[in-house]
Amino acid sequence: MTEKLSGYRSDWPTDWPTLFGVQRPLILEIGFGRGAFLLHLARRYPDYNIVGLEISNRCMVIGEKLIAREQLTNVRVIHSTAEMALNHLFESQSISQIYINFPDPWFKPGHHHRRLMQRDTVDALVSRLTPDGRLYLATDILEYAELSAELLASTPGLTNLLPSAWVNDMTDRVITKYEQIARNAGRACYYFAYARNEISAPNVPVIRDLPMPHIVFTSPLTLDQMADQFAGWNVDEGDLHIHFMTLYRGHHALLFEVHVGEATIIQHLALRVSERAKREGREYTIQVSSMGHPRATVGVHRAVALLGEWLIGLHPDAHAMINKVAVNDGDD
Ligand SMILES: C[S@@+](CC[C@H](N)C(=O)[O-])C[C@H]1O[C@@H](n2cnc3c(N)ncnc32)[C@H](O)[C@@H]1O
Repeated sequence: MTEKLSGYRSDWPTDWPTLFGVQRPLILEIGFGRGAFLLHLARRYPDYNIVGLEISNRCMVIGEKLIAREQLTNVRVIHSTAEMALNHLFESQSISQIYINFPDPWFKPGHHHRRLMQRDTVDALVSRLTPDGRLYLATDILEYAELSAELLASTPGLTNLLPSAWVNDMTDRVITKYEQIARNAGRACYYFAYARNEISAPNVPVIRDLPMPHIVFTSPLTLDQMADQFAGWNVDEGDLHIHFMTLYRGHHALLFEVHVGEATIIQHLALRVSERAKREGREYTIQVSSMGHPRATVGVHRAVALLGEWLIGLHPDAHAMINKVAVNDGDD
């Protein structure tokens, strides 16, 4: 049984040739669902490494079973949003073909739900395509097609391969589950095909891990006195949303349950404030707990910094002694 893969646990960026055991061009399918198209890609492109992304656990299980049943050696499925995978797992100019079939099925214009086809994700897609790479999109929602057509047409790094913004039939494709549902219901489908051209891609650097942040501080307050002041709070700073949700009291530590949402990754983690053993006076360390495989992103650094500011701010005689938190540029 191969190891289950997730964008949270994979190396940033991922060494694909090592993962597949062979260096081959990459194909990416975003949101593979029941996996029919992924299987089609695997059969049609035996000399490529094919990566399928899904956010649904159920689809992940289906994908893994499919790979095992068909003994596919050129396909791996990864539990990840497209946003996390594109920004953290793939280097620039590394993917030959990207397929997006029937994304965002509940899309409504003006709906606030984050949709896949939007400027920052398209910029990441373009930056990850190899020179002359291909991007294919299919949808059965006219408004989604119109919006995507506008977005893609206003992307200098992409050239339309079709005579019109989209076509309503694309031969040489297998029909996906959603496509079949759409056709059975009499809905038209809209297919897009674009090629990466010579115009330079937007600069979308691979987001790597920072060193793990930590703060050491001294305070006259006990852990109980600090805990008594906690009421939970939210911080919104542009794309970064931090919610200090709940506080758990342990024997020699406080555990803060924190939600950290960034543009490319959402993490639910714990920050631990522990008493430092055998020290004069009261010294404490704030660290990221290892529970749940946290990644040291800018947002996690900010959460540690905010918690430190708050705890130190509880008493005028409290102060930081060691502050290993990155400020903006990721350097500590
Ligand atoms: C409407 S289904 C289409 C499934 C399949 N491509 C098909 O055509 O039958 C959309 C799929 O995309 C997945 N998905 C939605 N948003 C995603 C994201 N941001 N990144 C990766 N997968 C996503 C969903 O879990 C779902 O399986």
